[in-house]
Amino acid sequence: MCGIIGICSLNGLGEPLGRALKRSLTKLEYRGYDSVGVAVIGKGELIVRKGKGKIGEVDARVKFSEIDGLIGIGHTRWATHGKPSDDNAHPHIDCGGRVAVVHNGIISNYRELRAMLEGRGHVFRSETDTEVIAHLIEEHLKEGANAFDAFRKTISELKGAYALVAVVRDEPDKMFFVRNISPLVIGIGSGTNFIASDIPAFLEYTNTVVVLNDGEYGYVSPSSIYIERNGKPVNVEERIRHVTWSPEMASKEGYSHFMLKEIHEQPMALRNTLAGIERDEVTKIGAELADARHIFITASGTSLHAGLIGDYLLTTVAGADVHTFTSSEYRKYMKTAGEGDVAIVVSQSGETIDALLALRALKSAGVKVIAISNVMDSAIPRESHLAIYTRTGPEIGVAATKTFTAQLMVLTILAMSAAAARGYVNDDEAAYFMNEMEQVPDVVQATLANNEAKIKRVAASISRASSMYYLGRGLGLPISMEGALKMKEVAYIHAEAYPAGESKHGPIALVEKSFPVLFTIFNDEYGEAMEGNIMEMKARDAYAIGVIPKSLEERLDKVLDIAIPIGVEEPAIATIAYSVPMQLLAYYTAVARGLDPDKPRNLAKTVTVE
Ligand code: F6R
Repeated sequence: MCGIIGICSLNGLGEPLGRALKRSLTKLEYRGYDSVGVAVIGKGELIVRKGKGKIGEVDARVKFSEIDGLIGIGHTRWATHGKPSDDNAHPHIDCGGRVAVVHNGIISNYRELRAMLEGRGHVFRSETDTEVIAHLIEEHLKEGANAFDAFRKTISELKGAYALVAVVRDEPDKMFFVRNISPLVIGIGSGTNFIASDIPAFLEYTNTVVVLNDGEYGYVSPSSIYIERNGKPVNVEERIRHVTWSPEMASKEGYSHFMLKEIHEQPMALRNTLAGIERDEVTKIGAELADARHIFITASGTSLHAGLIGDYLLTTVAGADVHTFTSSEYRKYMKTAGEGDVAIVVSQSGETIDALLALRALKSAGVKVIAISNVMDSAIPRESHLAIYTRTGPEIGVAATKTFTAQLMVLTILAMSAAAARGYVNDDEAAYFMNEMEQVPDVVQATLANNEAKIKRVAASISRASSMYYLGRGLGLPISMEGALKMKEVAYIHAEAYPAGESKHGPIALVEKSFPVLFTIFNDEYGEAMEGNIMEMKARDAYAIGVIPKSLEERLDKVLDIAIPIGVEEPAIATIAYSVPMQLLAYYTAVARGLDPDKPRNLAKTVTVE
């Protein structure tokens, strides 16, 4: 969490480097935004400007655009060690003001290193783990090492999960870097090269990239890139890729927030995801899932909710033995998991540390691991035996939206393929299913067009609520869980999801006049029971909202306060379209409450600490 950018240029970018760094940092703000800073080497001097606050606020105080030079680094922070403050903002420098460092992740042995360095007279200015790196480099420079050797020696002494970039005043043509679990990507331009936590940071300049692997380190100069691993040079040419994301794709395109833009991008994201799915590969994976002794699905947050949909379908349609768990709890399964099992690790970023650690544990237990991710070459797909990608383009909004529905699409197709391999679905049914799936992008488009205005009104009417319930049965439960998570994340309303059948066993005690309850109802065997649950809530004067199938509109309209009908009846496929009103409701409620849904407090887009 924390975003890193480094730029080094032969002749400059035609604008002050501080301004270019600031602009790149705004593209990384989704990774964290409690403080921000840049360091530039200009006229033989290391200039550092930083502070607590969002980029615009800090810039107004310290004026990034006033500083210029040919090499500079920048950082947007999400606090881990040390609270958000001016002193704890990155870059961090050494005592002599020769070295500046930006860092994402955690240095787990920083206490010991700091004590050792303080013993040698180093004076620390911050509470961060990062600052030890600048002092360590300084220490090795003092021993007579050149900048790269000092950097290499330093990183050999660090423990933890981190990506970092350093500049040294006396060698002002190089940005030194290392990737160890936290992401880092090099951008290759003409006469200007970049290094960043993520591609959108430099996409306006270049789409030619090298995605670094764990354990790689080296330096980037304006005209060359040097990468090493275990002391041996890496062939950079072989690793060069061209990404197809345009800078426009990474900007808001006229929407007031990335979240809204990304909600509206879902028809396209789903079409691309479907187009990218290799039918042969799906058939092969379906067969592996069908043969598996156990299937483990692991993920965090929104991706976990997608996993729960996969679980429901693999269990009920394919008859598989599925165990789905939040990645941070993987240890529970270490005696059950082994040879003959298959795991599906779902992570849009591909870098969530909890999911990565669960993956490693499952893999070392002998489980075959399949990743579902949105980020090509990120750690989770790279470390898995096999990867399937959702193809939504970058998701900038902190709240996952388009990546969630794309994950549902992939998981649903895999579950159906496993069901076919087990003989629970025949060829005609499989063809019918794929045909229905192909209609989903249009259904999502229609769901957006037909319901957005209504949902905006519902949002206004619940915007003063402090608490609400999301109730569902069967597939409706994970969809409710995701709806409630979105509401919590961006609108800060305490929203809880329950199996509707559980609501009488306690939760109903909170319900009083106008308490919002959102029911997710599919065209399935739970319809009548759900109707009963609506009546129970209405009897307590709750405000009942229903996301329902079009076929039940006439009937349920009479019992609900607000019905949001969705034009797809097959429950396994309808989950995708049902997610859209949940996302819109959270978004418009946040806006009605005067909040910024793109920057929910305390959250970061990619969670790279345990
Ligand atoms: C919610 C959200 C988070 C992520 C979770 C996992 O909107 O975005 O709950 O879903 O942190 O992230 P990934 O999918 O990147 O592993």
